[in-house]
Amino acid sequence: MIAIIVAMDIDNLIGKNNTLPWYYPDDLAYFKKITTGKTVLMGRKTFESIISRNKKPLPNRKNIVLTSNLQFQYSGVEVIHDGNAYLKQTKEDVFVIGGKQVYELALPYAEQLYITRINKKYEGDTYFPLFQLEQFQLIQKEEQGDLCFCVYQRKI
Ligand SMILES: NC(=O)c1ccc[n+]([C@@H]2O[C@H](COP(=O)([O-])OP(=O)(O)OC[C@H]3O[C@@H](n4cnc5c(N)ncnc54)[C@H](OP(=O)(O)O)[C@@H]3O)[C@@H](O)[C@H]2O)c1
Repeated sequence: MIAIIVAMDIDNLIGKNNTLPWYYPDDLAYFKKITTGKTVLMGRKTFESIISRNKKPLPNRKNIVLTSNLQFQYSGVEVIHDGNAYLKQTKEDVFVIGGKQVYELALPYAEQLYITRINKKYEGDTYFPLFQLEQFQLIQKEEQGDLCFCVYQRKI
C-alpha cells in the first residue's frame, strides 16, 4: 500500500529553501508516530534537508532515496533510480514523504493521503502538486489549534 504524508498551508505550500517553512512540534510528532517502523520514500533533496536538520537518516524507518545519480550512496539508506518501477511492484507499505517531485510521481499510486492542513499562510517556493481531491474520501479528521490532521482514502 502506498500512502503520502505531507503538511501544507492554506495555499498548498510545502517548502522553502529546501526546508519546511514552519516549525510545528505537534506535526513532527504526528509524522514520527505514523511513519515509525515503516518504509519511507523520499526525493534526494528532501533527504538532504533531513540530513542537514537531523545529521542522520530518519531512525527506526527503512529510508529509501530516489535519485538519478548512480553514484549516490549513504550509510543505512537504500537508493533507487526508477521510482515508477519501484512504486508499481513494491509489496511493502510505503509512506511517500516528499518533496514535490516525488509526491507528483507517487500520487497515481497513492491509496491514502495523510495531510496535515495548516490554517495559515506562509512564504515559500515549493507547492504540493495539483491533484484531484474528489478521487479521495476523508476518513479521519482531528483538529489541534492551527493544525488539522486529515486522512483520505482513494474511492476507486
Ligand atoms: N511540507 C511537507 O510535508 C514536506 C515534505 C517533504 C519535503 N518538503 C519540502 O519539499 C521541498 C523539496 O521538494 P522538491 O520537489 O524540490 O525535491 P524532492 O522531491 O525532495 O527531490 C527531488 C530530487 O529527487 C530525485 N528525483 C525526483 N524524481 C525522480 C525520478 N523520476 N527519477 C530519479 N530521480 C528523481 C532527483 O534527484 P537528483 O537530482 O539527485 O537526480 C530530484 O532532484 C523542500 O522544501 C522540502 O522541505 C515538504
